[in-house]
Amino acid sequence: MFRLENVSFYSILDSINMEFSEEKVTCITGKSGGGKSTILKFLNKMLIPTEGRIFYKERPLESIDSVELRRQAVMLQQDPVLFDGSIEENLQIGLKLSKRAPAPPERLKEALQIVLLEKALSDSSEKLSGGEKQRLALARVLLMNPSVYLLDEPTSALDRGTEVAVMERVIQSVKERNGTVIMVTHSEPIADRFGEDKIHLQYRKKAGEHNE
Ligand SMILES: Nc1ncnc2c1ncn2[C@@H]1O[C@H](COP(=O)(O)OP(=O)(O)O)[C@@H](O)[C@H]1O
Ligand SMILES: [Mg+2]
Repeated sequence: MFRLENVSFYSILDSINMEFSEEKVTCITGKSGGGKSTILKFLNKMLIPTEGRIFYKERPLESIDSVELRRQAVMLQQDPVLFDGSIEENLQIGLKLSKRAPAPPERLKEALQIVLLEKALSDSSEKLSGGEKQRLALARVLLMNPSVYLLDEPTSALDRGTEVAVMERVIQSVKERNGTVIMVTHSEPIADRFGEDKIHLQYRKKAGEHNE
């Protein structure tokens, strides 16, 4: 569904080739600073490679309108942004920003149940813990119902037990909608359990080091 051809990014990524399959869960692992978030950002055109090409459904990314692409491929950022409103406002903001109709309360509650966040829609999001905020941001992405879920370390603030329980439900929900998941994770249990395809990103030379 996405294909990277000889993609480089400054000294961080050097002529990489990879492919992500439609309706599958692909897990990307690798060292910190290795370029994992950079790859996800390529896929919704938040970043453009310095060399090489990327294709989405065989179309080169440069020929696809960014707004259109971001409707289909929605990113959960590594440090998601919430604002100090209610849970409901934070859930609706993704739809609002993409100029879509608000979701009815039942759908909001269902999204909270999927991520195991037991809060009322009217509760303030200010006092949520880091793990709760992360799940709220994940629920927001689910409500946007994209074709492709670009998840950057979606469970980094959750404990081992909770992360598996949450991802179990999230992935089941995505599968019911025939969605595709491309997920960066540091968690071996998550990659082992949910990764239908796995990509381990090799750390490459630092700027100034020599290629052999
Ligand atoms: N827009 C950018 N321009 C240049 N370098 C960047 C840019 N964004 C990130 N980097 C650098 O790229 C490297 C890889 O970052 P990142 O993709 O966030 O790694 P990871 O997610 O694997 O930890 C880091 O050293 C980071 O500082
Ligand atoms: Mg990262």
